[in-house]
Amino acid sequence: MNKIITIDGPAASGKGTLARELAEALGYAYMDTGALYRAVGYEVLQAGGDPEDEADALKGCRILAAKLGKDGIPVLSNPDLRMERNGDAASKVAIIQSVRDALLDIQRNFADNPGDKYKGAVLDGRDIGTVICPDAPLKLYITASDEIRAQRRMKELHSKGISVTKSAVLEDMRARDARDKARKVAPMRPAEDAIVIDTSVLDAGQVLETALKYVSETLA
Ligand code: CDP
Repeated sequence: MNKIITIDGPAASGKGTLARELAEALGYAYMDTGALYRAVGYEVLQAGGDPEDEADALKGCRILAAKLGKDGIPVLSNPDLRMERNGDAASKVAIIQSVRDALLDIQRNFADNPGDKYKGAVLDGRDIGTVICPDAPLKLYITASDEIRAQRRMKELHSKGISVTKSAVLEDMRARDARDKARKVAPMRPAEDAIVIDTSVLDAGQVLETALKYVSETLA
């Protein structure tokens, strides 16, 4: 069986940090699938389009596919993608089935062929355990209280020189979470066989330690 770890959960729950650290500790490749949706949202806004319009969103997918074909995964590291307006646009394009279809192969190919130098793959997002890699041997669902998540996101944005208030972050995050949970296609939810980790009272090191325990029980 392929060594794939799926990590899903709401905004700023700590899933990105865990996914990166887990990949590093295990020698696995890592894909932040949220960055794909953010990049599509970003391209739509750059072109002056509407993220809720299917034709505009699909045009964003084509622009992203061309950039990925030319420059590869580093395209997803553009720091502008982290801005809340691109997160908001991401959660709008993410509702559209044809957008999700357009991004499906990129994610599955990455999970199945992470490259010779890696021993497996870690992917984080909203539907990795439920839709993208339903047969993965280890599925984690990372969550934390709204207040803690808003605090973490604010710190992340401040460290990138983006100025925001906690109440604005909380409001944006709740709107996005509600959209992600309520959508008909691939809603955010834990897979039935996912292990749920609440990180509200855990620091990053403790979350990693907890996850590594599950890795040694399932993937060793
Ligand atoms: O960093 P954060 O957790 O706030 O969000 P993200 O993982 O960068 O994802 C941004 C948005 O993309 C989410 O709010 C979802 O609407 C969408 N997304 C999705 O629908 N499916 C995924 N696998 C990943 C992200």
